Order: sequence, then C-alpha cells, then structure tokens
Amino acid sequence: MRVLLTGGAGFIGSHTALKLLEAGHEAISLDNLSNSSAESLKRVSQITGRPAPLCVGDCTVEADVERVFREYAPIDAVIHFAGLKAVGESVSKPLDYYQNNLDSTFTLLRVMQKYDCRTVVFSSSATVYGTNQEMPLREDFPTGCTNPYGWTKWMNERVLTDCAKAMGLNVVLLRYFNPIGAHESGMIGEDPSGIPNNLMPFICQVASGKLERLNVFGNDYPTPDGTGVRDYIHVCDLAEGHLAALEYAADHPGTEIVNLGTGIGYSVLDIVHTFEKANGLTLPYTIAPRRPGDIAVCYADPSKAEKLLGWHARRSLEDMCRDSWNWQKNNPDGYGK
Ligand code: NAD
Ligand code: UFG
Repeated sequence: MRVLLTGGAGFIGSHTALKLLEAGHEAISLDNLSNSSAESLKRVSQITGRPAPLCVGDCTVEADVERVFREYAPIDAVIHFAGLKAVGESVSKPLDYYQNNLDSTFTLLRVMQKYDCRTVVFSSSATVYGTNQEMPLREDFPTGCTNPYGWTKWMNERVLTDCAKAMGLNVVLLRYFNPIGAHESGMIGEDPSGIPNNLMPFICQVASGKLERLNVFGNDYPTPDGTGVRDYIHVCDLAEGHLAALEYAADHPGTEIVNLGTGIGYSVLDIVHTFEKANGLTLPYTIAPRRPGDIAVCYADPSKAEKLLGWHARRSLEDMCRDSWNWQKNNPDGYGK
C-alpha cells in the first residue's frame, strides 16, 4: 500500500514509517515540523535503504494536504498522527489544541473524500478513558476527559466514527498507552523540546547528566510501592500495531476501537530500577508531591488487539529501558533541531 503518514516525522510516526517500509509498503509523510525534525525520516531511509519522502506542510491547510494526494496519487490509506500532544499546554492554550487537532482531521477527511481514499488509522489515547475506571481498561468502557488535549482525541474519535458511517470509510481508532523506547539501531527516538514532561525522556536526561535528578510525583498512591502505575509500551511494538491495524482496516468498512498496550502496569520506581539495572547506571531521584491531574493506575486490556489484529506487544521493560538509553546516549542533543 502507499500510505500517507500525517505527523510522520514525529516520534511514533517515524518508527511506524520504518515498519511500513520494512513490510514492503510505501510511507509518505506530511509534517509541518512544529515538533520534529526532517532528520528523523532521513535516518529511517538510511536504516531501511528505501525512500521515506517528507512533504513539509500543514494538515490544517487544504492546499498542503491536496498537494500530497496529487503528487503521490493514488494514496491507498492514511495514518493520522499529526497533532499537538502536551497535556499541560492544552490547558493553557485550548484554542490552539482544538484548532490544530480538529481542523487537521476535517481537512484530511475532505481531501480523502475528493481523492476517494477510504482507509484511515487514527492516533487516539488512553486519556479518553478519563478517571475512576476499573482496570484493565477495555474499549467498551465509558469515556470522558479531564483536559483539552484529551477532548480533542475524544472529539476526533466521534468525527471519524460518524464519517466512517456516512462516507463508507474503513477506520481504526488506536488508543495508545505510554509509548517509550526507541529503534534498536539507536538512530531514531523521542526528541522532546525543552524540559521533558514525560517520565522516560526525563529519566534519559538525568542519566546523561543534563538534568540533576528525577522528581517522582507522589509515593502515596494506592499502588504496591505508592508511585503511579502505567502501561509502558515499546514504540516498535506500537509501530507494528499500526501495521496490523492498517492491514486490517484496508478491507473492513466501519469503525473499530483498539487499545495498544501490553496489559502490564509498572510503577515509576519499577521504571527507575529497571533502567538502572538494564543500563548499569544510578539515577538520583527525590519523592515530590503528586502532579495535578495524574491518576494512580492506568493499564490496558490488550485482548481485542490480539483477537482482531493478531497483534500483541513482544518487547520487555528491559528492552524499553535499554533502547531509550541507547538512543539518548548516541544522540545527546536528539536530532539537533
Ligand atoms: P510528535 O509530536 O513526535 O509527533 C506529532 C507530529 O505531528 C510532529 O512531527 C508534529 O510536527 C506534527 N504536526 C503537529 N501538527 C501538525 C499539523 N497541523 N500539520 C502537520 N504536522 C503536524 O508526537 P508522537 O508522540 O509521535 O505522537 C503522535 C500522535 O500520537 C499524536 O497525535 C499524539 O497525540 C498521539 N499520542 C501520543 C502519545 C505519546 O505518549 N507519545 C500517547 C497517546 C497518543
Ligand atoms: N512521572 C514522574 N516524574 C516525571 C514525569 C512523570 O514521577 O518527571 C510519573 C507520572 O506521575 C506518572 C508516570 O510517571 O505516574 C508517567 O507519566 P508520563 O508523563 O510519562 O505519562 P502520563 O501517563 O501522565 O501521560 C501519558 C501521555 C499523555 C496521555 C496520557 C494518558 O503522555 O499524552 O498518558 O494516556 F494523555
């Protein structure tokens, strides 16, 4: 298939482009580089020995999206990664988030309709399950969000579900849990700008000496060691999940919602200790107050992904910690953007 990846230069997009190319598909990316570097896709091309074209443009601009559909006709399917994703920033700049994350979907769907492209896989998030749920989280659980970023995912799910019905689309909505890790080559990985918000990039910068110590946000949660529990998934497993979702979607009209997680919850201290052991390092940390908005525990029931897509995560927490550090160590300044 010839696949358009919106946001393809980003963390998850670049790893997915690599897996698509390895599986014999074509991967064309459209990215405005607002949170990424063109270097990621150059490296994907080096690793795979195949072209990974990048069109620099904005998904909210119809002419930019249409240019790609014209230049690379026929596009068989789209994986829609493009979006702003910082939860805290979405609270202070809700309009930016609603505008970018929703307009990009509207524009994409209009152009897809014009070019008769019917298959779309969307990057959603476990954040749509909101709070106060039983664990593990199943796709048929009620949804609701606590921040504008989450609502953009929730609204996009709604828009895509309604359009699938009306326009005869094949849609898979993927609810990601906590993607970490990097490709085993150490050539591509997560490259956050400024001080990282998320746990693994923060840990990597403590390990490299860029940051002094990790703040563990709360040790009084109702969890075995008191620290927050999440379902961390290796980004290469996640990328392989996209490949499976795409191949499923290609000949299945309607909408499916699928969790991409491992089904295993690890605490913040589990991550710290596994990272130390896997990489032979010591991570200085301090117990700090809880971070506002955080929940105690969040992990997936991944059984639908196995049943429907024949996919499950294969990589261990040790693999995630080793590959995250390998990327950071080889690229202390990320892509140098
Ligand atoms: P990322 O920021 O690395 O990738 C997103 C890409 O989209 C970036 O390259 C950015 O430049 C691009 N982009 C943003 N707005 C655009 C626009 N209007 N036009 C063109 N390009 C645009 O983030 P990621 O971690 O790779 O996430 C990919 C998707 O997965 C996002 O939609 C994100 O919300 C979702 N997601 C991520 C996580 C996570 O923890 N990383 C969890 C759940 C869901
Ligand atoms: N944490 C720390 N110290 C840090 C950073 C994080 O202790 O410096 C803790 C958090 O309190 C939490 C865990 O590490 O218990 C994971 O935090 P992350 O920020 O890495 O991830 P979140 O689970 O908070 O958020 C992720 C995605 C969001 C998404 C959310 C729900 O980053 O995009 O999952 O699916 F909305």
